[in-house]
Amino acid sequence: MTQPPTTLFHLSDIHFGLEDSRALAWVERCICEEKPTAICITGDPTMRARHRQFAAACRWISSLDPPVTVEVGNHDMPYFNLIERFVDPYRRFRSIEALLEKQIDLPGVAIIPLKTVARAQWRFPWSNGWVTEAALRETLATIDALPAGTRALVTAHHPLPERDPHGKRLTINGEATMAELAQRNVLAILTGHIHDAFDIDQPTPAGNLRMIGAGTLSKRIRSSPPSFNELTIDASGIAVTVRNLEAVPTPAMQIDRVPGNALPPRQPDDPVAPVGTVPAHDPPVH
Ligand SMILES: [Fe+2]
Ligand SMILES: [Fe+2]
Repeated sequence: MTQPPTTLFHLSDIHFGLEDSRALAWVERCICEEKPTAICITGDPTMRARHRQFAAACRWISSLDPPVTVEVGNHDMPYFNLIERFVDPYRRFRSIEALLEKQIDLPGVAIIPLKTVARAQWRFPWSNGWVTEAALRETLATIDALPAGTRALVTAHHPLPERDPHGKRLTINGEATMAELAQRNVLAILTGHIHDAFDIDQPTPAGNLRMIGAGTLSKRIRSSPPSFNELTIDASGIAVTVRNLEAVPTPAMQIDRVPGNALPPRQPDDPVAPVGTVPAHDPPVH
């Protein structure tokens, strides 16, 4: 007998403190009415890792019926208390972890986390990803211990490409990580951080790896309105629909490559690029 498809809601970058309340209320309604099997939140549940922002995130996650996974994002380590950041960077995030179920059983699929953040790096900005050797080892060991035939859905905050098209370093150790994942029975890696959605088949030396990114549910939008991904998983793979309040079709919501950051691309009629925006040679994304 064939299994009915599994539906997951893939949310990301809610950034409590700068959340989009209208979008979040809509997602809550979707969850209540459609009852997805599980919800994966791929990082940045808070804006500045403040205690009140973690409290709001915990309240919201606790109010949801389906089981939830949450990855830690670069915004979820203390910004202003550097001692805490260096000594115990995930202390505040553990308030969220305490709410989550240890394991979510889906038919033939296992959700496996991959940590891509670091408390400090030998480069700026520290907001970019870094898959440490220890983090990669832990994820690969978990995948390798799965029962034969189980497909892994890897969840992380940062997309894994190591460089943007202009050569800027993105996720350290990302290329090696993608090659390791592509050698295994990995359906896709689900990520956030960019604040735009994407669904890219990324070539690696070991074959292609599917990278699925979710947009943001915060007011910190990049080039598309707030959204989340609806993932339908069956024996043939994953179908992705980018859900949004503006009814923009999925292909128009998805960017076709991973940019360097979550800042909006420069508009052609901008007289001067605002401080901190992506370079003018970064082509606009749709
Ligand atoms: Fe973010
Ligand atoms: Fe992020």
